[in-house]
Amino acid sequence: MTADAVTGSSTAKRKIAFAFFLIVCLAISLTVGLVLHFNKEKENSPVSSLGERSDVIVDCHPESDGTEEKCKDRGCLWSPVSDKGAPWCKFPAGYGYRMVGDVMDTPMGMRVELERTSHPQYLTRSASFDNIYLDVDFHTDSRLRLRFYPKNDSRWEIPDSVLNITSPSKASETTRLYNVTIVDTPVFGVIITRVSNNQTIFNTSLPGFIYSDQYLQLTTRLASSNVYGFGEHNHRQLRHDLSWKTWSIFTRDVAPVDEWNLYGAHPTYMNVEDDGSAHMVFLKNSNAMEVFLQPSPHPAITFRTIGGVLDFYIFLGSSPGEAVQQYTAAIGRPVMPPYWTLGFHLCRWGYTNISDLRMVIDRNREIGIPYDAQWADLEYMFNKFVFSYNRETFPGLPDLVRDLHDHDQKFVVIVDPGLGNDPNISSLIKHNSPGYDVFDDGSREGVLVMNPNNSGPIVAEVWPGTTGYPDFTNPATEAWWEKWARYFHDNESIEFDSLWIDMNEPASFVPGSVDGCENNKWNYPPYTPNILGRGEDGRMYDKTLCMDAIQHLGSHYDVHSLYAHTQAIQTYNALKNIFPDKRPWTMTRSSYAGTGKYATKWMGDNQSRWEQMKWSIVGILEFGLFGFSLNGADICGFWYEAEYEMCVRWHQLGAFYPFARNHNALGDAPDFFKPQDPAAWDARFVRLAKEALITRYKLLPYLYTLMHNAHARGDTVMRPLLFEFPNDPVCLSVDEQFLLGPALLVSPVLNKGQTTVTAYFPEGRWYDYFQGETVAVNKDYLDLDTPLEKFNLHVRGGHVIPWQVPAITTNSSRKNKMGAIVALDKEGRAEGELFWDDGESIDTYETDHYLLIKFRMPKYGELHVVQTGSVSVFPPPPPPPPPLDQLDIYGLQTIPLSVSLDGHVVPVDNIRQSYAITSLLNLNMTLTSNHTITWT
Ligand SMILES: *[C@@H]1O[C@H](CO)[C@@H](O)[C@H](O)[C@H]1NC(C)=O
Ligand SMILES: *[C@@H]1O[C@H](CO)[C@@H](O)[C@H](O)[C@H]1NC(C)=O
Ligand SMILES: *[C@@H]1O[C@H](CO)[C@@H](O)[C@H](O)[C@H]1NC(C)=O
Ligand SMILES: *[C@@H]1O[C@H](CO)[C@@H](O)[C@H](O)[C@H]1NC(C)=O
Ligand SMILES: *[C@@H]1O[C@H](CO)[C@@H](O)[C@H](O)[C@H]1NC(C)=O
Ligand SMILES: *[C@@H]1O[C@H](CO)[C@@H](O)[C@H](O)[C@H]1NC(C)=O
Repeated sequence: MTADAVTGSSTAKRKIAFAFFLIVCLAISLTVGLVLHFNKEKENSPVSSLGERSDVIVDCHPESDGTEEKCKDRGCLWSPVSDKGAPWCKFPAGYGYRMVGDVMDTPMGMRVELERTSHPQYLTRSASFDNIYLDVDFHTDSRLRLRFYPKNDSRWEIPDSVLNITSPSKASETTRLYNVTIVDTPVFGVIITRVSNNQTIFNTSLPGFIYSDQYLQLTTRLASSNVYGFGEHNHRQLRHDLSWKTWSIFTRDVAPVDEWNLYGAHPTYMNVEDDGSAHMVFLKNSNAMEVFLQPSPHPAITFRTIGGVLDFYIFLGSSPGEAVQQYTAAIGRPVMPPYWTLGFHLCRWGYTNISDLRMVIDRNREIGIPYDAQWADLEYMFNKFVFSYNRETFPGLPDLVRDLHDHDQKFVVIVDPGLGNDPNISSLIKHNSPGYDVFDDGSREGVLVMNPNNSGPIVAEVWPGTTGYPDFTNPATEAWWEKWARYFHDNESIEFDSLWIDMNEPASFVPGSVDGCENNKWNYPPYTPNILGRGEDGRMYDKTLCMDAIQHLGSHYDVHSLYAHTQAIQTYNALKNIFPDKRPWTMTRSSYAGTGKYATKWMGDNQSRWEQMKWSIVGILEFGLFGFSLNGADICGFWYEAEYEMCVRWHQLGAFYPFARNHNALGDAPDFFKPQDPAAWDARFVRLAKEALITRYKLLPYLYTLMHNAHARGDTVMRPLLFEFPNDPVCLSVDEQFLLGPALLVSPVLNKGQTTVTAYFPEGRWYDYFQGETVAVNKDYLDLDTPLEKFNLHVRGGHVIPWQVPAITTNSSRKNKMGAIVALDKEGRAEGELFWDDGESIDTYETDHYLLIKFRMPKYGELHVVQTGSVSVFPPPPPPPPPLDQLDIYGLQTIPLSVSLDGHVVPVDNIRQSYAITSLLNLNMTLTSNHTITWT
């Protein structure tokens, strides 16, 4: 939960928190005020002095207090331009680096040495390196790396133990999809072109390349204005608005409402080229940074980071989807989640005691809503000390968890990194939880983040009061973390199924530490990116730890944004050891590039507001691009009270998020938010939520197959239309509709009172999911009548979608009969697949413990169901899927005269027409053997 929405156990604490909140607000408005003031001055300048922008402008004074004098002091040019928001202080053409000597060959590619041009230092407090190298490594035919580093200095870089991008051997010149050109006039630049379309995809032949200790800047031209990605932010739209926008990247605990840097750090973007091919660029750098975008006709991106090295990886996809596949091949494929995580989840911050929790479980079981997992937020803990439960307010919690298990339901608990160390509570908790010693034990074992002077663990403040922080960059922390997770499972007897890792930006309610932070170049760097809370003094540590705190792998200044990433790795490993036969699953709030290999992601502490529904789609789609498959936002919103209509609509939307959880906040006494779990509303609400969730449960075999394809080959699960239709200009900006896999189109209602959705249908044949009518056959906008009773789901012709008779838990639905939708394209064909395994063992794909059933139609009227993967070699074999009993064919003009299955005639009684769907019933096809269905 967000700490901005602070409540505490005592009124005093709330008051402090509120005062803090006011200060933050004040700081924000001061910053905003300054910026506005600056812009206003520009607007008041005589128009006659404004020039036209003729090329990319590299901003030489991103600080808000720019003047002509300061600009010239930096050796830059003051040149007012008429574009609103464009910088007026720009680098002169020759400012940057020049080559020394010739291009050198290296085992992986080539190297150039660069020397700084003789311009004034950009920042007086951060000296530039006069000599640097650029290594260009040809990793694969479609991936290359550009790494700039000082000639004789070793600097912080993300180590392989944290993010291991391996490259086999130098890609051959004859097969590489790219050309690299080095230019040196008027200044050094590197230009990368795609050979197939001669498109320039990366071009730094621009001034203002700066490489200093605490300020590194590089600008590249873009191939087009179709830019996606960069995170984590609450982007309002999927395709970036390039109009002089600055996005800062630095992990931060703040609710996704404004446009500040948020929980995760993803210095990654995608640029879709004019012919529909797409490349991605990842800046492997963990320091605080910002990116500055500029619009057509000279679209460009400026990277400004305040540490580390400039280490770019460039991926050349033939399509957006393939670019993501290449990206996750490098940083790690999304983790394969257990089957049950695809079910519906319920959570609330505000189950104040065990009877409250029990009541919610009971009433939602009673209404028979699909419901797989119950989560517990902060309250279950003893004074919010992690790995404990409160025996006074939650007596019998171990039995409640067993009862959940007896009902095929799971239990997930929140775990924060902040370890309570208040001596008074620490002595009390020993009575509540015998043997509890988490903080002191961590301190003794030396696995906590240390004070700048190494005098002891750094102490800040989170929910339990004063807190220490595990140092997850230390390999020794893993065994210690596992030990206490085991303590919770074995000694506290809470048989949890998963740990939900929150507040791992990491968050602190006091800036830096209980003792504040020193005034030095880490806490107050020469340049502070536009991060939330930097205030006027440019502090880096607002809402987190001091930047000079010490971690095993480096200073917090360098590793801050890797906190959750390293925690996710160690939590994944701990769960793997605690439950040796089970697939580990953890959900995280903060993340870095590659975290998706270990954890899944929810969008954090959103709000019960209509606009958040749209934003959730943008965020989830972006995290697909960042390599996460099981993403979702809190259904009905977390903070504030959900209203009826919105909450219905949000269930209709959230039922098609990859991860579907209704999660509510507590609210502030006496105005606690009313509950928003489905059973808390009326019968009509229950019916509508159930209809959406039952549809989800029916489609779980398809969703699970998508999860597998994400894990095995880097496909996205919830994907933007542009991934399937990159050549359709309309699709480049669609973000109020989305696809699940290639075949299901979701067009939700996102506004209050709205009952018509104007939906776009790209090229192809599209069917109404429920009745099978063809709604569109060619690019088309349609007005879909969508009263509150309805939601829009469409099937794309050419695809087979496996389904299963739904039940109220995934464990029972997995045992039900299966079916498949066969949606024919214009040629009367369709294909698809079904991945099946036991749903919970680890590495079933890697160890061949799965079935992959392919549906193919070599010609019209002949469907082959082909089993690949060999059941026979399984020791022991996985339970085979239930028989495929029904096929629903969409797109037949007339009922077939005769149908045969494996050469036997299917009785006419088993051929049914309902609306526009032709169903073949009672097929009883075992999926461990092959079948052929033909119809005429
Ligand atoms: C880099 O080279 C300069 C000049 O030779 C030297 O003064 C400096 O100490 C070197 N830095 C490192 C880290 O080796
Ligand atoms: C990185 O991956 C390579 C190839 O899989 C492996 O050999 C190496 O040990 C890994 N390095 C680390 C530090 O994990
Ligand atoms: C790439 O380089 C090769 C060899 O230098 C050259 O023949 C080719 O024209 C270049 N292609 C593009 C698109 O620049
Ligand atoms: C590629 O485009 C550049 C201009 O951007 C042009 O000079 C060059 O001749 C083109 N090369 C090929 C192989 O088409
Ligand atoms: C379905 O097939 C299985 C074996 O192939 C058989 O044992 C079972 O009786 C069949 N069920 C029905 C309803 O025909
Ligand atoms: C099904 O067909 C595939 C492809 O022809 C073949 O490899 C496989 O062995 C067959 N499986 C069975 C159980 O016959």
